[in-house]
Amino acid sequence: MLSRRRFALGAAAMIAPGVLSSRHASAASPQIETPLPIPRLIDTEKSGRAVKLRIAAGRHAFVHGKPAATYGYSAPVLGPVIRVRKGDSLMMAVDNALDCDTTVHWHGLHVPGDVDGGPHQVIKPGGSWHPVLEINQPASTAWFHPHPHHDTARQLYTGLTGMIIIDDGSDARLDLPRSYGVDDLPIILQDRSFASDGALLYAADPLATAYGSRGDIIIVNGAIAPVATVPRGPVRLRLLDAANARNFYLRFGDGRGFHVIASDGGFLAAPVAVTRLTISPGERFEILVDFSNGKAVTLETGPDEEMGLFGGPGAQGGSEHVPVMRFEPGATPIAATALPLRLAEPAVADPGKSARRRRFILDSSMCTGEPREAQADHGRIMCINGKPHDMDRIDEQVKLGTTEIWEIFSVGMAHPFHIHGASFRVLGLGGTAPPAHLAGWKDVVLVEDKAELLVAFQQPATARHPFMYHCHIAEHEQAGMMGQYVCM
Ligand code: C2O
Ligand code: CU
Ligand code: CU
Repeated sequence: MLSRRRFALGAAAMIAPGVLSSRHASAASPQIETPLPIPRLIDTEKSGRAVKLRIAAGRHAFVHGKPAATYGYSAPVLGPVIRVRKGDSLMMAVDNALDCDTTVHWHGLHVPGDVDGGPHQVIKPGGSWHPVLEINQPASTAWFHPHPHHDTARQLYTGLTGMIIIDDGSDARLDLPRSYGVDDLPIILQDRSFASDGALLYAADPLATAYGSRGDIIIVNGAIAPVATVPRGPVRLRLLDAANARNFYLRFGDGRGFHVIASDGGFLAAPVAVTRLTISPGERFEILVDFSNGKAVTLETGPDEEMGLFGGPGAQGGSEHVPVMRFEPGATPIAATALPLRLAEPAVADPGKSARRRRFILDSSMCTGEPREAQADHGRIMCINGKPHDMDRIDEQVKLGTTEIWEIFSVGMAHPFHIHGASFRVLGLGGTAPPAHLAGWKDVVLVEDKAELLVAFQQPATARHPFMYHCHIAEHEQAGMMGQYVCM
């Protein structure tokens, strides 16, 4: 197996000299002044269980005064945050006003394959889709994004991302910050490159396919280097990495610690104190940050280790961190509530009960499978177990209601591995037990070398609407690093 660092050097040598300097020039330190945009909240308790989403082209000025052509869900860019309660059944009405096929995948919702919104559930231009989503899962932060065959990466990059907050009563019971937009903030992390007129530049070159497409400017909720005014007390951030490919290596500028309270699938057993947090595409973490000292602070990210010199912001300085956004606490201190000692009782991860074991090798450096349609993506195909994705092939058959151990191996570089329709516990990462903040329920995990997962299959999917599993680097998924499973 090629070590990923050696692979990075090998590919770096192939780049024309001009590329690095032009990227360097546009990565100047951003001025932090735009207020953090807070996506519109659709709270189904107030607005009812029928939720409309209109997918359409729009215009949004990422760069001040220079609007770019974008896509959004009932918004010029991004989409609403939909807040639902456990036990709700949501009647979605999704209209596609784009001039291309799309799908809407509810990433993190535990729903059957026929409403999951994967690549088989195409909404044609002018068409609509009316899935009913039965919400029956613990409190968590999920999201939605496009998943059309061979067009996910571009559509995601152009702006299609929304968030879903599931409430099961724990927030009130645990007295956690829960005022949306005040002390409970969605933080959607992405990166983009811009032309001089402010238009979005999507790099669709072989390098972008090989590593995934990274922009040289970081955006949060669609804004470059925004500032959030927060209460002078504990604040909950719902972090979502919705970048095509970038991992964020987060820390606060003053080195302050913070607590991770939830991962993809919901609350951790107890808050986990950290000073740094890595988040990869598709992952969510909820964190509690204490602003009671009243001092403004930046959230920073480090260079993307998966890209070496070409990692964009922060990459040129080696270990240099760059600002992502700033927090400015208000003047009046908020009475601090005690951090709960226990958050949830996650079911014990008992590998002894698993029905069987499967292995998946994610390979971005070579592929022995037949080059089929995936060749369209710049002649590069990417595989799982030697086979590029095939819409007409069911790769795995899983028995509904069972748990299995899935072993994931990454070749070429670290791949954020995601499974639709199921949550998992990480049993091992690179041969050791996972750190505490990765020990809860998840649906994406960054696999550097190998990972061992205990996957709980509780949602059905048939061959007509199978579930996907894939690398969440959008360009890798699109180049073929995806498989399909049925669950019956
Ligand atoms: Cu975020 Cu196939 O999913
Ligand atoms: Cu998903
Ligand atoms: Cu990948």
